[in-house]
Amino acid sequence: MLPSVLPTETDHVPVLADEVVALLDPHPGETIVDATFGAGGHAGLLAARLRGDGKLIAIDRDPTVAPFFERFRRGTAAKTRLLHGEFSTVLEQLADNGVKADAILLDLGVSSMQLDRPERGFSYAVDAPLDMRMDPSGDVTAADVVNDADERELADIFHRYGEERYARQIAKAIVRRRGKHPFETTGELVETIKAAIPAPARFGEGHPAKRVFQALRIEVNDELGAVERALPAAEEMLRPGGRLAVISFHSLEDRIVKRYLRNAEHGCTCPPDFPICTCGSQPTLRATPRRAVRPSAAEVARNPRAQSARLRVGVKV
Ligand SMILES: C[S@@+](CC[C@H](N)C(=O)[O-])C[C@H]1O[C@@H](n2cnc3c(N)ncnc32)[C@H](O)[C@@H]1O
Repeated sequence: MLPSVLPTETDHVPVLADEVVALLDPHPGETIVDATFGAGGHAGLLAARLRGDGKLIAIDRDPTVAPFFERFRRGTAAKTRLLHGEFSTVLEQLADNGVKADAILLDLGVSSMQLDRPERGFSYAVDAPLDMRMDPSGDVTAADVVNDADERELADIFHRYGEERYARQIAKAIVRRRGKHPFETTGELVETIKAAIPAPARFGEGHPAKRVFQALRIEVNDELGAVERALPAAEEMLRPGGRLAVISFHSLEDRIVKRYLRNAEHGCTCPPDFPICTCGSQPTLRATPRRAVRPSAAEVARNPRAQSARLRVGVKV
């Protein structure tokens, strides 16, 4: 049984909200897909532009967004639907069923509600079960990764997804510790990380467990794989002139989006040394604006979680 979650005013603050609305530019009669519904902050602002005439399809893999969707549904005259699932799978299913959209939003990562609820195990600040699944029915928890992956895999995860300097030392300490007792809680992992790194690093930039927790979260939820798979499905759903906006919070995610837009804009897939194009592929998206949009200093001051946000938008040609 899921804990009951009542929406409050202090829940997730939508990041780059004005920019998202301006660039997705919804109009009455259009269909919008918010593939990362969360608390529905972006969805509410986008749906308001439909002026009661249009449709908003919401997707989230976390079933605890249901009360937020109910609040959103009651506050809009637009047609709405909430689809539970991993967005790449749901977008592929929608595309296969011929559903078309005028605007699609992916606001990646976790919500404040997920981070702030200790029982979800995303936070290094409180002792809780080592879980980190965005979808609590998912197969693999953070405890499974920490207890089952071999030392090399762990070091690779911490290094690649967390840019953790002491990845190897931490992986080694984890393997030693789990030989005596498998990890069950976030607190046990935090203690192991702290003990594995040199004392000065414990007091360096941010919490010493921050990077490892981020890396585990990305691994447990296959966050990069989901973005890779979602972009072509989203593009397929877009009508000509349709807009796709992606907000990422991690350089690896942003790189996937940037590369995807660049390739779609280029069209041709011939090797660079071919004198003429033989593939015949045409550009499919235009990056608008050219560069990633970043939050203003004022937004970061109001909402520090916006700090690393990057928004990229592609318009279907
Ligand atoms: C940053 S929050 C979105 C917040 C939302 N834009 C708002 O204004 O409230 C990200 C949400 O997307 C969901 N999410 C992340 N990755 C997902 C995926 N691959 N498939 C489905 N939902 C995902 C998370 O469960 C979370 O609720």
